[in-house]
Amino acid sequence: MKKNPVVWRASTLHFLDDPARTPTKDAVEFHEDGAVVVDDGHILAAGAYQSIAKHLPAACETYHLPGKLLIPGFVDTHVHYPQLGMTGACGEQLIQWLERYTFPAEAAFDSPDYAREVARFFLDQCLAHGTTTALVFGAVFPESVTAFFEAASERQLRMIAGKVMMDRNAPDYLLDTATTSYEESQQLIRHWHGKNRLAYAVTPRFAPTSTPNQLKAARRLLDEFDGLYLHTHLAENLKEVAWTHKLYPDSQNYLDVYDQYGLLGSRSFFAHAIHLCEASWQRLADTGSSLSFCPSANLFLGSGLFDFQKASSLNINIGLGTDIGAGTSLCQLESMKSAYQVCQLQGTSLSPLSAFYLATLGGARALGLSDKIGSFTPGNEADFLILNPRATPLLAFRMKQAKTLEERLGIMMTLGDDRLIENTVIMGETWQKKTGEYK
Ligand code: GUN
Ligand code: ZN
Repeated sequence: MKKNPVVWRASTLHFLDDPARTPTKDAVEFHEDGAVVVDDGHILAAGAYQSIAKHLPAACETYHLPGKLLIPGFVDTHVHYPQLGMTGACGEQLIQWLERYTFPAEAAFDSPDYAREVARFFLDQCLAHGTTTALVFGAVFPESVTAFFEAASERQLRMIAGKVMMDRNAPDYLLDTATTSYEESQQLIRHWHGKNRLAYAVTPRFAPTSTPNQLKAARRLLDEFDGLYLHTHLAENLKEVAWTHKLYPDSQNYLDVYDQYGLLGSRSFFAHAIHLCEASWQRLADTGSSLSFCPSANLFLGSGLFDFQKASSLNINIGLGTDIGAGTSLCQLESMKSAYQVCQLQGTSLSPLSAFYLATLGGARALGLSDKIGSFTPGNEADFLILNPRATPLLAFRMKQAKTLEERLGIMMTLGDDRLIENTVIMGETWQKKTGEYK
């Protein structure tokens, strides 16, 4: 039997546009006493409670949550689920960190049982930390991606993932070949892409671990199926950049390796993009490619500072990524704080409005999903967060001094973490943080 619509009454915040490009009054919709009406898992209406109340359908239930803030779920545009168990592995920079910690950790994902256990835990942790959609690296084993998509389906989540393609420069136990990576990805795509709320990302790890033949295979997959994503790493670390030049001497620069194999475009996501030449910046802009800004990972591995100002000035699509296990938290509030710090170190300030935009509508737009998630626009899927801006004594104390919305958001991203996420709503159903189940 179809349920009646539900009215969620609390403060509400979402974005209609990028606040860095559009006047605040047109980009930001905030209501101190707001409402989001959900019908059949989708947004029916959102706005000021008083005006919504005049047009409410008959027989709808109201959940009144005074003092709480509803915002669209966070979108994480770069994260490795098999690396959750090695977060905080200290002492190395990128290449040695991969060899010493990452590759051994990913080896365990040849076991479907272990992959299932970690995939479930990872997705429950995403929900507890406020992430409702993510672009996710699996491991090289196709079973790892099957386990992930099964766990995402069980939770009705909108998720994008792919099997790592990696046919050189890694331990033997983790290598595939151009042919097996093509065939295994193809099978996963046939089974999962477009099913439920899932989509597939063709996922060559990064240029140094793929032969030219494997990058060709990646391109072939993109040609064969509609709506796939391409997800990889780009110019994160200076030694990685030098190594890539050695392995691909005919390429003009790191990005050009991917470009030569036809891997740039509006559904392509490049994580990091720290050490880029002017020609690469321009080419990313010209091809409509997207970047994942992963500030906590860049600080943790000491990789460098992403030039957010440059990317924005070129109108490049940017999403925010936690990049667990190099990142230091699954919570995008903490990514926002690190993003703010990375910008400060380069002499620019990321406004709290821009940070919240990046983690919600910005990420959704970069993924081409803003007609489904990222805002309270009617018709969108009802994935949102119930935040408690006074979740800790210090937050409550500090909030008393805040006068404007922008100040409150600045405090949330500076002092906040997953304790602010009271509950997470997926397709209108509340995922209870306490029980780890839908109500
Ligand atoms: N570059 C290639 N693989 C990885 C990875 O797993 N994490 C990060 N941060 N960078 C990479
Ligand atoms: Zn990564």
